[in-house]
Amino acid sequence: MCGIFGIVCASKRDDLGEVMVRAARRLSYRGYDSVGMATFTGNGQIDLRKDVGDITKTNAQLHFDAMTGDRGLLQLRWSTFGRPSTTNAQPHLTMNRDMVGAHNGNITNNPFVREDLQAEGATFESENDGETLVLLVEKYLSRGMSPEEAYTQVSHDTEGDFAQVFMRRDKHEMYAAKMGSSLYLGLADDFICVSSDLPSILEFTRKYVRLENGDLVIFDDKNYRIFRLPEQQYVERPVTVSDIDIENANKEPFAHYFIKEIHEQVEGTHNLLSLYDGTSVWQDFIEALDSADRVFMTGAGTSYHALLLGAYYFNKLARLPVFPSWGSQMLPLYAASVREGDLIVLVSQSGETKDLMNVYEWAKAKGVARTFSVVNNIGSTLALHCDGMIPICSYLEISVPATKTYTNQVLCFLYAAMKLAEHRGIPYEGITWDDLHRVPRLIQETIEMSQQPVKELASVLLEHPSMHILGHDMTHPVAMEGALKMKEVVYNHPEGMYSSEFKHGPLASVDEGYPVIFVSLPENEDLVLSHMNEVICRQGIVVHVGQPSKGYDKIAHYKLPIPAMGNPYLRRR
Ligand code: M6R
Repeated sequence: MCGIFGIVCASKRDDLGEVMVRAARRLSYRGYDSVGMATFTGNGQIDLRKDVGDITKTNAQLHFDAMTGDRGLLQLRWSTFGRPSTTNAQPHLTMNRDMVGAHNGNITNNPFVREDLQAEGATFESENDGETLVLLVEKYLSRGMSPEEAYTQVSHDTEGDFAQVFMRRDKHEMYAAKMGSSLYLGLADDFICVSSDLPSILEFTRKYVRLENGDLVIFDDKNYRIFRLPEQQYVERPVTVSDIDIENANKEPFAHYFIKEIHEQVEGTHNLLSLYDGTSVWQDFIEALDSADRVFMTGAGTSYHALLLGAYYFNKLARLPVFPSWGSQMLPLYAASVREGDLIVLVSQSGETKDLMNVYEWAKAKGVARTFSVVNNIGSTLALHCDGMIPICSYLEISVPATKTYTNQVLCFLYAAMKLAEHRGIPYEGITWDDLHRVPRLIQETIEMSQQPVKELASVLLEHPSMHILGHDMTHPVAMEGALKMKEVVYNHPEGMYSSEFKHGPLASVDEGYPVIFVSLPENEDLVLSHMNEVICRQGIVVHVGQPSKGYDKIAHYKLPIPAMGNPYLRRR
């Protein structure tokens, strides 16, 4: 996805590099193929350093933190155009060496723009579309155009979704354009900065401006102006003062944010239940679901797994069928049949994910369906622009692998399904409000009882680059989420799938010592035991995650027990 950051200070700062490294660390989840930084050193020289690797490795080699200057920009790259290499790393210099810029996102017509520039005499040093963009901006600025005019031309010449930061030797200012990728402007006391995400801005200031697609912001250390490229006019945008205290967000006493946020699920679920119980914040969601002809739910990655589990809850408890999809799949799969009266629920922690923005923009442009967002970041585009919004109250998520937000998304859906069933007068079984309020305590118990078995199992699974994680019924999304988490954290290849599907081909991959993890509900014990036996016959390793029972205890080689719940709705990883 890549990340960019740019900063303009009043005069030379000896700690500019340190400030930029802090921002880069916040943005590090956005790209670790290469990192690059460029500063104007105060005497008009450009100091450009870049190399392959993540921020920790490249900073150790290139000493970004020792860079000085009055202006700087940086980029963290996740390769799309051109392999990871030093030359393809961003930022890129212009041909006249007087300007420098970096982007994130994709210029989808890059080959054509590049060919046109080459035909006009441009020479490229890399294969990267970020360089194309830099040379394109140079082309127009060097013709004497103002930044407003130059970026208007650039917006006509380029296709794709991206954001760019750019600075030049002869002006104490910076340009940042938002053309589909996220971009925030931060207003600190002694500088102005721009960044791909909000947490990296909150690192320095709570005052920020959310930029919109088509905005060009031109800023120095004190002043900024926003020019709308499509409408060719200046606009004012509201300044938001965030109440998120990122300075106090530290991982102590945990080794890293991933484990910290696993533990924060206890408090997070408690907070969500307190908010929902004490307010009617869920009311609009219930009414939107109840009044819709049909409900489509869409989300990416972890958010998709949460909404898939939500689809089971809505069906089982409130008799509401839901059409689930990945964000990027929603339009190809359903767009032709979405009609007035339908509801599209967009599920996203960040509220900025591009695949979902595409769905939102399509729905808005067509005016065919209502949109409702289920989000954590309540200042995000989806939260602010959808017809309705329900927050999942997980506070700031810093770890790249999502944990506490998944749990709260799931809990939000379970809460809503129970409320909707009551609203519709549908009697449901299997769960009570008291059960729901035991969730924080059950999570605490699960964390405590898992410590030792998880360690033992991890030492076994570490030997295996590949494995399957199977779920049935409501544990299917849980299995998929477990597999995603393992891929992200361990960089191995677990495949999450529906356990009944396993025998239709994938079972062939099991041989001696191949691990298959079963996430189960007691209700499905007979079926799951027969699936386990299929693995045992092939001398595979069987792991059971779920409530213990005689059957599972007898067959499984390894067990990760969870507390007995007495109802099927609250099983989890
Ligand atoms: O912010 P979102 O929920 O829209 O993000 C969607 C996915 O990119 C995200 O859930 C991703 O899969 C997680 N980091 C996985 O742990």
